[in-house]
Amino acid sequence: MARILCTGGAGFIGSNFVRLVLDNSDDSITVLDALTYAGNAASLQGLDERRFSFVRGSVTDAALVDQLVGSHDLVVHFAAESHNDNSLNDPSPFIQTNLVGTYELLQAVRRHGTRYHHISTDEVYGDLELDDPARFTETTPYNPSSPYSASKAGSDLLVRAWVRSFGVRATISNCSNNYGPRQHIEKFIPRQITNVIDGIRPKLYGAGQNVRDWIHVDDHNRAVLRIVEAGRIGETYLIGADGELDNKSVVELVLTLMGQPADAYDHVNDRAGHDLRYAIDSSRLRSELGWQPLYRDFEAGLAATIEWYRANQAWWRPMKQATEAKYAAVGQ
Ligand code: NAD
Ligand code: TYD
Repeated sequence: MARILCTGGAGFIGSNFVRLVLDNSDDSITVLDALTYAGNAASLQGLDERRFSFVRGSVTDAALVDQLVGSHDLVVHFAAESHNDNSLNDPSPFIQTNLVGTYELLQAVRRHGTRYHHISTDEVYGDLELDDPARFTETTPYNPSSPYSASKAGSDLLVRAWVRSFGVRATISNCSNNYGPRQHIEKFIPRQITNVIDGIRPKLYGAGQNVRDWIHVDDHNRAVLRIVEAGRIGETYLIGADGELDNKSVVELVLTLMGQPADAYDHVNDRAGHDLRYAIDSSRLRSELGWQPLYRDFEAGLAATIEWYRANQAWWRPMKQATEAKYAAVGQ
């Protein structure tokens, strides 16, 4: 029975992680989350309070982080500013949370000897050409494009340095694009689903040729648990489920599954510096740790996600207007 400190547990992936752990183990979890615009306390409602507690605070608060790290066996660090578009408008919170916050956690796990797992993204590797047969591996050089991906890349490198120089017991995972329930509606898939529910046409950046490698959030979190259990200290594992699809195909599928004509979407301004393609080779995770994705049918996973947003309108409706107003201001 481990005591887990989960940062960012009120966000998309973190809240699904908390539920997965509570449902499948005897471990207890403390969530440390600042409840920024992206955090949602409703995502953690109804959990068993004998094994779950919530602390509102920032990963940049050194004293709070030290106290919490000292009373837990494992830290899983999800907390981050996570949206590329926001990082183009204002990079400053990305530097604070993603870099300074990770630094504070590393200093604390160093002092207390606590096991640490660092959640990161495949975007640290930059992008691939559409026709490139290559996919990202653990040895692909870092080449981030946006302030978001640069701040995540920097945080990964801090972890590597703290492992090598200070003997911190850490692992890193870099995962591709997640989909599933409780994702903020600023992100691509839930933005389009909630648009269709509200009678707004989906918005595709540019021509929509960009490719993302989709994975269900529960498959990501199962991989994280496997790495925490059996991963080699100091090692990086790439997490991906062979889910490459271009954005145009995803929008068309969302529309079709929701009973609309497949071409009922608008092209809007492209993102500055928009990465063309991400693709993950997760052979190391599969061969060393025996992980495999359970969600192999993207269409079925997407249909279930659409149902979740239909059934949980109280969860997302309060943020819809402000989210769309932010996009409208930049022609997206
Ligand atoms: P999210 O934006 O949904 O959630 C982030 C959470 O962190 C929110 O609850 C927010 O309140 C909290 N937070 C932000 N700043 C904080 C601070 N200073 N202190 C404490 N809490 C703070 O993000 P997500 O999509 O769940 O992503 C979680 C992690 O996974 C991030 O590290 C992200 O880089 C990584 N990741 C995401 C994806 C994806 O597709 N969403 C893919 C790969 C990796
Ligand atoms: P996003 O969910 O922001 O994730 P990331 O930037 O981490 O890949 O976007 C996924 C893809 O969808 C990306 O290529 C940008 C594109 N996109 C749109 O076409 N329309 C939208 O409204 C949004 C939010 C994203």
